[in-house]
This record gives sequence, structure tokens and C-alpha cells, in this order.
Amino acid sequence: MGKCSIAFFILTFVYMVGAFSARDLSLPTPVNGLSWTFYNTSCPSLESIVRKRIDFYLNQDITQAAGLLRLHFHDCFVQGCDGSVLLSGTSSERVAAPNLSLRKMAFTIINNIKARVEAACSGIVSCADILALAARDSVNKAGGPFYRLPLGRRDSLGFANKSTVNDSIPAPTFNVTGLMSVFSRKNLTLRDLVALSGGHTIGRANCSSFDNRLHNSTTGENEEDPTLDQTFANHLFLTCPTNTSVNTTNLDIRSPNVFDNKYYVNLLNRQTLFTSDQTLYSDSRTRDFVIGFAGNQTSFFEQFVLSMLKMGQLSVLTRSQGEIRKHCEVPNPTSSVFSIFNPQVSSSSYST
Ligand code: HEM
Repeated sequence: MGKCSIAFFILTFVYMVGAFSARDLSLPTPVNGLSWTFYNTSCPSLESIVRKRIDFYLNQDITQAAGLLRLHFHDCFVQGCDGSVLLSGTSSERVAAPNLSLRKMAFTIINNIKARVEAACSGIVSCADILALAARDSVNKAGGPFYRLPLGRRDSLGFANKSTVNDSIPAPTFNVTGLMSVFSRKNLTLRDLVALSGGHTIGRANCSSFDNRLHNSTTGENEEDPTLDQTFANHLFLTCPTNTSVNTTNLDIRSPNVFDNKYYVNLLNRQTLFTSDQTLYSDSRTRDFVIGFAGNQTSFFEQFVLSMLKMGQLSVLTRSQGEIRKHCEVPNPTSSVFSIFNPQVSSSSYST
């Protein structure tokens, strides 16, 4: 055997060991019923349809990336990633307080992608999977990491009630202990909490979500949270002068529309909006993760992907559970709960 052949064998061996160990490290085994290749034969064009539509909408307005990412989070944390947040109705999850500020456009984008996917492969792909893919592609389009997604989620037949939504979505006034009381119920760790909170590197918030840091809740007088940076606080008082101000501001002052690690740099500088953000730096249990992600975007991206894969597989319905909805806002007519829904599903809302 010549020197070249030996070198070739060694290189191939090293590459294969590297490839296998890299795969083992970076891609956890999907939960039972989901797979990396789920629609490969039944709907091979799925991922390119979703990607093209996300490109289409985000090229017009990149801020929609934030709406889609948050919609996926609110789907997964309430009853699992089962598309339940997408259902409409007067007592649906959508009318619960934490969901009132979800972007209407995010729902429209999902409904429209669903219509495209149905046209290509009817009755095959769940709304829950489409939402997970749309969130993944949005993060990537905004500058964040791309990752492969295990697919095969099925859609719920119904939605959770208001109190379940309120108990499942953490409030922006929570400290680390309050946040972990929600996250640990879902087997998410302190590290997951810090990495997933990095979703606040894009998007915006209403004054009401961080008013507890600016005004006294009973008198309405100015009462500044001493952990806020003074210049940043001055800017927030201009945006939200009273405790009834109706206005929005960006979550990330440094790069509001780019998915990067600047959220953590903001934390070091005491320039984030929510108590639930700043507590990650104040609390010694989470501070080192914040410092690590602020100093190294790659390590943030790697952990964000792992944590998104965990979040994206929470309590999923698979195989014969749930259904593949025809329209994301309403269970299929054959389902026993259809009669309690009365969404105005017009054909126009499903075009484009
Ligand atoms: C850790 C607990 C969390 C709390 C307390 C929290 C709270 C909030 C609040 C209050 C808003 C602003 C709502 C408004 O005023 O309009 C918001 C926005 C947002 N959140 Fe979170 N969130 C948390 C975790 C997450 C996670 C895990 C993600 C995704 C991985 C995420 C992604 C977003 C995004 C992208 C926005 C901006 C949405 C937009 O611009 O439409 N959040 N969050």
C-alpha cells in the first residue's frame, strides 16, 4: 500500500469518527414517534415550501421573525407542541392574557403556508410541524443558526383553558425561581432557560410588560427599578411615560432585528426590558451562562439549538394521537369537538 493510500485511509477514519461523534454530540435522539426523515417520501417538498414562504414574508418585514418564534414557544409551553395555540374560538388559548400580544400576522403566515403545503401534499403535514419549521427558518433568516428538526408532530383536537395558559407561560415579572418553577416542570434546565431567553434578541414588547420596572403599581408614580441602567431607563420613560402608556419598544437595543448574542451583552449592561431577563444576570445560578453567551456567540447558538430541540418536542402528539388539521385554526369537521368551534374560515384568508 502506498503512502497516499495510507494517508487516505487515516483521513477517512478520522473523518468518520469525527462525523459520528459530532452527530452524537449535536443531535439528540428524537422523542418516540418523531423522526429526522418523517416527510421524506410523503411530502418531500415540505421544507422548501416553508423556507420559500418565510423568505417571501420576511423579505417584506424581517420583524415577523420574532412573532413566529414566540408563537412556537407559546404553542410548546401550553399542552405541548400540538398547534393548540393556532385554534381560534371565543374561549381558545388565543384569548388568554399572555397570548393577546401574539402577532396576528404570525397566525396569517402559518395559515398561508399551510394552504401551500396542503396544495402540494394534502392531509399529510401537521400545523404543529409547520409552526416548528417556520420558527426555525425565521431564526435562521434573522441571522441565527440553522438546525435540522425532528418531525411527525400531530395537531391537537382542542385547546387548553385560560388558567392552564396562565400557569404555563411565565410572566415577565418573574425572577429565576419563578421562571424555573415553570421550566423545570418541563424538564428544562437553568441552561435551557438562559439559552431560550436569548429569543429576546429579536422582537418588541408593550409598555405593560415592563411597567413594573418604571412605575409604582398602585400610585402610578415613577418608581425606577434600580437594576436598570440609567440611560436605558430614561429612554424607556420616554416610550412609556405613564403606567397606562400604550406603546412598544425593541427587546434588543443593540441589534433589534438580528438574531445574535447581543441580548446577553445587554444583560451585562443592565439594558433589557423584563425583570425575567435581568434576573438571569443578577442570580448567581444563571449569571455564568449569561457571561459565557455574551462572550461567545457560537456557544450561544449551539446551546440555543439544543434547547430549541428540547422545547420543540415537549409533550408532542404522535402516530394515532391527534390529527392532521386541514386548516390550522379549526379541528377537522370529523373530529368530535368541531361543533364548539366557530371560526370564520374564509377561502381568502388562505391565499398567497
Ligand atoms: C423565559 C421566560 C419568558 C418570558 C417571561 C417571556 C416574556 C415575553 C414578553 C412579556 C414579551 C413581550 C410581549 C408584549 O409585550 O408584546 C415577549 C416577547 C417575545 N418573546 Fe418571550 N418570554 C420568555 C421566553 C421566551 C422564549 C423561550 C422565546 C423563544 C425561544 C421567546 C421569544 C420571544 C420573542 C421573539 C418575543 C418578541 C415577539 C414579537 O416581537 O412579536 N420568549 N416575551
